[in-house]
Amino acid sequence: MSLLDGKVALVTGAGHGIGRAHALELASHGAKVVVNDLGSNHHGEGSGRDADVVVDIIRSRGGEAVADYGNVSDEAAADAMVARGVQEWGRLDILVNNAGIVRDKAIWNMTVDEFDLVMAVHLRGSWLTSRAAARHWRDSAKAAGGQVYGRIINTTSGAGLQGNFGQTNYGSAKAALVGLTLTLSVELASIGVTANAVSPGAATRLSAGVTPGFTPREADDYADGEWDPMAPQVCSPVVAWLGSEKAAFVSGQVFRVLGQDLQLLKGFAPAAALDNGGKPWDATTLGRLIETRIYGSRAPGLNLGS
Ligand SMILES: NC(=O)c1ccc[n+]([C@@H]2O[C@H](COP(=O)([O-])OP(=O)(O)OC[C@H]3O[C@@H](n4cnc5c(N)ncnc54)[C@H](O)[C@@H]3O)[C@@H](O)[C@H]2O)c1
Repeated sequence: MSLLDGKVALVTGAGHGIGRAHALELASHGAKVVVNDLGSNHHGEGSGRDADVVVDIIRSRGGEAVADYGNVSDEAAADAMVARGVQEWGRLDILVNNAGIVRDKAIWNMTVDEFDLVMAVHLRGSWLTSRAAARHWRDSAKAAGGQVYGRIINTTSGAGLQGNFGQTNYGSAKAALVGLTLTLSVELASIGVTANAVSPGAATRLSAGVTPGFTPREADDYADGEWDPMAPQVCSPVVAWLGSEKAAFVSGQVFRVLGQDLQLLKGFAPAAALDNGGKPWDATTLGRLIETRIYGSRAPGLNLGS
């Protein structure tokens, strides 16, 4: 029995790059896949039927897949793409939110439209599909009187986790996706649904558009077993595992998959703390406390108990 036999997955933005690699990987483990893609370029311009190519590849390899050409940031389209797996195969088990675009500019040059569009595809799009899937799983759990099988895998980025020049829109959306993931993991735990995020890195249309020297190749351009640390499929086995029964114990986590490195990331836990002793902080003395007890950038001196 394969890792994902009998499972149904929706992968958004699966016409190219990392999403295409995820769709091929999930199908190779037995999942039936709804291949969503708007068919736009990496700036979100245009539309097309790029998803068909991926469906054809999956079918030619003996798998099952259907194409969806919807825009993830459109409410009706997001609802429809989530419903598609249920219509085709009677269930939805795995949602991979991967669709993405970039509109990079330094903040002083960025327009409101460029901010809104990037936020809409990454954050609103992932929220819309997650809401539709959550509603489906919650109804199913109620009908079954128990828990269901459900996996959400969101896509964040180093730009959101560490910051990146020219990406106030993209970095904000990608950081927000971590908040979405953590909150989904809390809200959906009682019905058995997990939510995690991956942070990939690959030479794709999207990264080639902003990184000179990157030549994008699709996952199916590679020979079986060929290793390239910048290949779009590097992260896909992690996504397949997170979508599987074996990862039932993992939720609310962020995995960074860069080349040969797989990292579990932990953020926003206290790195150092001060106690004000139940009195208001004093702005004139706070700096000294922070220098000595938070950063250690100034010698604290002897404290003889006074
Ligand atoms: N390439 C990297 O190094 C890198 C690093 C970190 C995160 N990511 C993230 O990985 C994801 C995939 O990016 P990629 O590098 O494979 O880029 P890509 O351009 O190769 O693929 C993105 C796909 O999303 C589709 N898409 C765009 N807008 C859409 C919409 N509104 N609805 C449905 N589909 C839409 C595009 O048509 C495209 O096929 C993105 O979320 C990106 O932010 C990429």
